[in-house]
Amino acid sequence: EVAHAAGARCVCDNTWATPLLQRPLALGADIVMHATTKYLGGHSDVTGGALVLKEDGEAAARLRSIQALGGGVPSAFDCWLVHRGIRTLPHRMRGHCDNAESVARFLADHPKVQMVHYPGLESDPGHSVAKRQMSRYGGMVSFQVDGGAAPALGVVSRVRVFTRATSLGGPESLIEHRASVEGPDTRTPPGLLRCSIGLEHADDLIEDLDRALA
Ligand SMILES: Cc1ncc(COP(=O)(O)O)c(C=O)c1O
Repeated sequence: EVAHAAGARCVCDNTWATPLLQRPLALGADIVMHATTKYLGGHSDVTGGALVLKEDGEAAARLRSIQALGGGVPSAFDCWLVHRGIRTLPHRMRGHCDNAESVARFLADHPKVQMVHYPGLESDPGHSVAKRQMSRYGGMVSFQVDGGAAPALGVVSRVRVFTRATSLGGPESLIEHRASVEGPDTRTPPGLLRCSIGLEHADDLIEDLDRALA
């Protein structure tokens, strides 16, 4: 409503939620973007993206032209990988959400964790909006380790089940120290770790974080 009142388009990056957990076009967005690299592909083996437009008008024609002239056209094999990944999307998302909810609850009760950022937790400032517009809360969990960057980097160096890497949406759980990735001008808190919660057993993920936080 704010965008439209100003004569602008509302564009939503729905990569983290996927079309299963949140439907931005139905909520008023004009354009929805997905990195198909992430949950839609689902196996960390393809790079791609998709734009979904509410209307096939002037904006769609312009985007098609930019894509054709710029050469951002996926290969047949990449399309096949994404198409194949989507077949298991509901089952994978159920696993990501189940695991992320368990990990977020564990972290929220941990004495060395200052804050957990997960829209599925009632304590999260985004919870009421997320509850209104999402069916579940996804697989991305961030948390702030007490004491800042050094203890957070210590946690990252001790995990064994999680892999230290950027990206998200694959079967394997990833962890990263965001401030290091973003560089000196970042506004991310120094103790913040971002996790892409994968499809391992939730007990293994919790045990791994518990040991790394000890
Ligand atoms: C929300 C979101 N959108 C888009 C992207 C971009 O994905 P890609 O690396 O496939 O361009 C990412 C990557 O991390 C992301 O987290």
